[in-house]
Order: sequence, then C-alpha cells, then structure tokens
Amino acid sequence: MPPEEKLYLPESAADKKMADRRRFLAGLSATLGGLAVVLAGFPLLGFLFSPLIKKTPRIWRRVGPVEKFEVGKTVAVSFTDATPLPWAGVTSETAAWLRRESETEFTAFAVNCTHLGCPVRWLQSAELFLCPCHGGVYYANGDVAAGPPPLPLPRYPARIRKGQVEILTSPVPITPFTF
Ligand code: FES
Repeated sequence: MPPEEKLYLPESAADKKMADRRRFLAGLSATLGGLAVVLAGFPLLGFLFSPLIKKTPRIWRRVGPVEKFEVGKTVAVSFTDATPLPWAGVTSETAAWLRRESETEFTAFAVNCTHLGCPVRWLQSAELFLCPCHGGVYYANGDVAAGPPPLPLPRYPARIRKGQVEILTSPVPITPFTF
C-alpha cells in the first residue's frame, strides 16, 4: 500500500476571505472582552481606592446629656455614622466607649480593635477592654496591654456643648491608613 500522500491545494480566494473574517472576528471579540473587563473594573477600583482619596466629613454627634455619665466610668454610647447612606438604615448607627474623666472631661474610644477590627468590650471589674477575637487587651486609657493589637484604641475627639456630650465622628479607624 503506497504511503499516504498529503495533498496541498492552493488556497482559494473564498478560503482566504473566510480566514480573514475569522481573524477579524477573533480580534473584535478579544477587544470587546477587554473593553468590558476595563469598564467593569472601574467601579471596583473606585470602591477600593476612593476612601484613600475622598475626605469623609467629620461631624459632631450628641451622645447624651453630661449628667447621664458618672465620673470614672466607661460606658457604651451610640451615634449615627458621619456619612450615613440614605438606604443604610440601622447600619448607620455606630458606637464608641465613652469615659468620663472628670466633671468637664470625656474620652471617647473607637469600639474596633486595632488588630482586625473586632468590637472590644469594656470589663468594668478589671478596668480593661477585651477583644473577643484573638485575645487583645487594652488598658482603660486605650493603651495595648496584651495580645496582637499593634496600636492603642483610637480616640474620637469629645466635647461638651449646651449640656450635651458630643463626639466628632470619623471613619472607623482600624488601620494606619485611616488615622
Ligand atoms: S481583632 Fe482584636 S485581637 Fe484580633
């Protein structure tokens, strides 16, 4: 049996046209696909990087009348976030730990641990803030006492206005980027 011979036929004009069309369509779909990826990526990049560029407004929020707080005690207070979205509902409510230092002085701590952001709890009997996630411990003044937190508890500025304690709200300061 003779070895199989390959038959090379000259490419017809119709074949060449078809190959050109395939190449054009492949190029077009690659270009459109790339364009779609870029267009879809813009909102994502905006979401990721806008907090680094956009300044969040800082607003003083009332957290209660001065006489409600006892000197030397630390209590939880809640207030509306600095930039509540119209559809945020109850999620725009945030919290802080407020300590009355003296008749006229208050210190407000963020509730979020500086390790990975878990909410810390105040343990009055031990005078410590405890983080339930990885055992982070903070002293009453917010300094790190033990565990993985790299920084003290961030503080919000606090003041008294017209008999009310107010806290200057700002983004939740859980990383060095937001200080
Ligand atoms: S999040 Fe608080 S110790 Fe890890």
